[in-house]
Amino acid sequence: MTLSGKNALVTGSDQGIGQAIALEMAREGAGVVVNYRANREGAEETCSQIRQMGRKAAVIQADVGQVAESKRLVRESAAALNGLDILVNNAGIEKRAPFLEVTEEDYQALLDVNLTGPFFLSQSFAQFLKDAGRPGRIINISSVHEELPFPHFAPYCVSKGGLKMMMRDLAIELASCGITVNNIAPGAIETPINRHLMSDPKLLAPLLKNIPLGRIGQPEDVARVAAFLASSGADYITGATIVVDGGLLWNYSEQ
Ligand SMILES: NC(=O)c1ccc[n+]([C@@H]2O[C@H](COP(=O)([O-])OP(=O)(O)OC[C@H]3O[C@@H](n4cnc5c(N)ncnc54)[C@H](O)[C@@H]3O)[C@@H](O)[C@H]2O)c1
Repeated sequence: MTLSGKNALVTGSDQGIGQAIALEMAREGAGVVVNYRANREGAEETCSQIRQMGRKAAVIQADVGQVAESKRLVRESAAALNGLDILVNNAGIEKRAPFLEVTEEDYQALLDVNLTGPFFLSQSFAQFLKDAGRPGRIINISSVHEELPFPHFAPYCVSKGGLKMMMRDLAIELASCGITVNNIAPGAIETPINRHLMSDPKLLAPLLKNIPLGRIGQPEDVARVAAFLASSGADYITGATIVVDGGLLWNYSEQ
């Protein structure tokens, strides 16, 4: 086990990729705070599976789209597990709309959760580590859309592109505190966020054609990389994005 004695806060771990990361980190020995916004049942399920593995776990409700809530989440997580070592900024939302129809309200709501949340969660977490004199890991779940345009999802691309530069900047600023900062950029992963896509063969078939490895990713594909980045095997990795997409991002061919 690579994370024995470590504690992780995983935002949005009531389902999907966040849930898989919480379970994988627990499998590797970590205690985990399971955070959710509205799906209490999913969070309790994640928590109970972690406890069955014999690890410490706590469920904490918080809307990471609100800065005060994010600060409270870090404070309560550190208290619940008696310390924190790993922050996974996973919680995220997406909303489809042509650029000309994006409302200020939808734009702001998306940026609040996908970018402002991770920014202030990272700030509170780094302050906690600095005060405690302990090293740590920040792992952001961004997307291939931190690089790749996605028409009709402009605010989402803005948020993930922002997460890329936030990660690069914090990697430098926080290195002297012994904190590494990295992104994971998933491609198409089978989770509730894209249920509409997965259940429509007309949408799924062209997407599969663009994935050289020929399959949609599973949450566990991302979770294993997150556990690695949290482990001592990744001691010398900071300021990097690891793409987990079956080859989607850089796929190009001529017929
Ligand atoms: N599924 C994919 O294909 C894919 C691809 C690239 C990136 N991602 C990213 O992975 C992350 C997880 O997405 P997923 O696919 O598991 O989707 P999901 O919809 O299953 O999970 C999103 C999670 O975020 C949480 N969340 C949403 N708003 C929140 C808030 N205000 N406060 C706290 N938690 C909140 C939800 O409770 C949920 O647990 C997101 O950041 C998403 O952008 C997903």
